[in-house]
Amino acid sequence: MDASAYRMNKVLGFLLGSALFLQAVHMIDENFTSNAKVEKPAAEPENPKAETAAASSQSFDKLLASASAERGAQVAKQCEVCHNLGKGQGPKIGPDLYGVVGRKVASEPGFNYSAALKSKGGTWTFDALNAWVTNPRAYAPGTAMTFAGISNEKQRADLVAYLNSNSDKPEPLPNASAQGQQSQEKNAQGSTKSEAPANSSAK
Ligand code: HEC
Repeated sequence: MDASAYRMNKVLGFLLGSALFLQAVHMIDENFTSNAKVEKPAAEPENPKAETAAASSQSFDKLLASASAERGAQVAKQCEVCHNLGKGQGPKIGPDLYGVVGRKVASEPGFNYSAALKSKGGTWTFDALNAWVTNPRAYAPGTAMTFAGISNEKQRADLVAYLNSNSDKPEPLPNASAQGQQSQEKNAQGSTKSEAPANSSAK
C-alpha cells in the first residue's frame, strides 16, 4: 500500500516534470524560430525600388552600428583570394583594400581598373560598399570583379565594419557618431526587432 502510493507519486512527479520540460523546450524553440524570421528578410533585399533602397540603407546603418569587425574578418576571407587587405601589400587580382572606406573609387595607382568601375566615380562610402558587395556586376555592369556577391545583409555589415577598421583612420560608424555608447547599444538591440516586419512587408 505504501509502496504503491510511493510509486504513484513517482509517476505523477515524472509526468509533471516532463510536461514542464516539454513546455520549456517549446518556448526555447519558439524563440529560435522568431530569431530566424528576423534574419531572413534582411538577407534578401531584392526589390530595386527607390523606397526599398532607402529603407535598406537605413537598416544597413543600424546593422553597422552593431556590426562586428571580428566576424567581418571571417567574411573577408573570401575577398583575400583576390585582394590584399594589409597596408602597403599592393594589388593581387584586384586592388589592395587597405583603407578602402572613404577612398575614391578606382583610384589605386598602378592598378588597371575596368572602364566600368572607372566611369562609376565617387567615393567608397559604407552604403556604396554595401551595394557593391551585394552584387558587383549589378553595381558596375562590366566590372572585372568576378564575384557573385554576399546576399546576407548582416554579413555585409560585419564585412564593411571590418574594412573600415582596416585603415589608418577608420570612419565613425553611423550610430556611433550620432549618439552615446549606451544608447547605441539599445538602438542596436531594438533595431533587429523592428526592422524585420518593415522589410518583409515590402514585397
Ligand atoms: C575573383 C576575384 C575577386 C574577389 C573574390 C573579390 N574581388 Fe574585389 N575586385 C576584384 C577586381 C578584379 C577588382 C577591380 C574591378 C574593376 O576594375 O572593375 C575589384 C575591385 C574591388 C573594389 C574597388 C576598389 C577600388 O579601388 O575602387 C572593392 C571595394 C572590392 N573589390 C571589394 C571586394 C570585397 C569586399 C570582396 C569580398 C567580399 C571582394 N572584393 C572579392 C576581384 C575580386
